[in-house]
Amino acid sequence: MKFLVTGATGKLGSKVVETLLKTVPASDLVVSVRNPEKAESFKARGVEVRQGDFDQPETLDTAFAGIDRLLMISTDGENETRIRQHKTAVDAAKRAGVTFIAYTSIANAQESTNFLAPTHKATEQMIIEAGIPYSFLRNNWYLENEIPSIQGAQAGAPWVTSAGNGKVGWALQQDYAEAAATVLSGIGHDNTIYELSGKLVTQDEIAAAVGAVIGKEVAVQHVEDATYAETMKSAGLPEFLIPMLVNIQKDIREGTLEVESNDFEKLLGRPATPLKDGLAQII
Ligand SMILES: NC(=O)c1ccc[n+]([C@@H]2O[C@H](COP(=O)([O-])OP(=O)(O)OC[C@H]3O[C@@H](n4cnc5c(N)ncnc54)[C@H](OP(=O)(O)O)[C@@H]3O)[C@@H](O)[C@H]2O)c1
Repeated sequence: MKFLVTGATGKLGSKVVETLLKTVPASDLVVSVRNPEKAESFKARGVEVRQGDFDQPETLDTAFAGIDRLLMISTDGENETRIRQHKTAVDAAKRAGVTFIAYTSIANAQESTNFLAPTHKATEQMIIEAGIPYSFLRNNWYLENEIPSIQGAQAGAPWVTSAGNGKVGWALQQDYAEAAATVLSGIGHDNTIYELSGKLVTQDEIAAAVGAVIGKEVAVQHVEDATYAETMKSAGLPEFLIPMLVNIQKDIREGTLEVESNDFEKLLGRPATPLKDGLAQII
C-alpha cells in the first residue's frame, strides 16, 4: 500500500508525515512537494520524495503514479487559483488510478458563506464527480492562527476583534494532522465527511484562556471592522493582508465556524486538545 501526502513541506503536511511515520513503514510513504530540497529530512528517513506542483499537471502524473491513498492538502491563495490547482490534482489522481482521496476542507463546506468556502465547496464536488472514494476533513480554525494576537497580548496589547460573539472551534494543527493520518492510513473511511472542530468558544473566552496561560489579564476590545482594519495596519501588518483579516473577523461574527461536532473524538479516540493545553503548547 502506498500513501501519498501533498503539501508535505508545509506546516500541517509535515505534521501529518511525522505522525504517519509512527505507524506506517517509511517505505510505504511518498510525499509530493514543489521543492524536494525542502523534504531532505523525510528522504533521509526512507520516505520517497517526488516533485509535484499543482500548477504543472505533468509533474503530478509522475508524482501520483502507483499511489493507492492520497492526502490532498489544500493550497493557499485566491479561490480561483486554488480551484484550478485542485482540479489539476484531482484529474491527475484519477488518471493515476488513486483509490482514495482525503482532502483538507473547511467547516460546513457545502453551505458555508465563509470567504474561503468556494474553494472547498468546488473541490469536494470535483472529488465526488471524479468517482474516487473520499474523506472530507472539514477543518475548523488552527489555534496557531492566533499566535500573532497571543504575542501581542504577551507584549501588553489588548485582544482587538470585530468578530463579536461568534464562536470558533479552534484546535491544534497537531490534532488535525493526527486526524488526517488516521483517515489516510486507516480503513472504513470511504465517502465520509468529518467536521473537525474543537470546543466552540468566543473571542472573550479565548482571550481569557490566553490570559490564564500567560499569567496576565488580557483586555478585549470589541470594535467595528473598519477600526479592526486600522488597528491591524498600525500594528504593522502588510496592507495586502488586511482585507483577508477583516473577512476572517466578519465570517467568525456571522457564525461560519460555529460547527459543533465530536468527530475529532471519533477519529482520535479523544476530544481535541483542550484550549488551555493547546495554548500552552504553542506559546
Ligand atoms: N483551517 C485553518 O485555520 C487554516 C489556516 C491556514 C491555512 N489553511 C489551509 O490549510 C492548508 C495547510 O495549512 P498550512 O498551515 O500547512 O499551510 P502552509 O504551511 O502554507 O502549507 C501549504 C502547502 O501547500 C503547498 N502548495 C502551495 N501551492 C502549491 C502548488 N501549486 N502545488 C503543490 N503544493 C502547493 C505548499 O508547498 P511549499 O511547501 O512548496 O510552499 C505548502 O506545503 C493551507 O494551504 C490552507 O489551504 C487552513
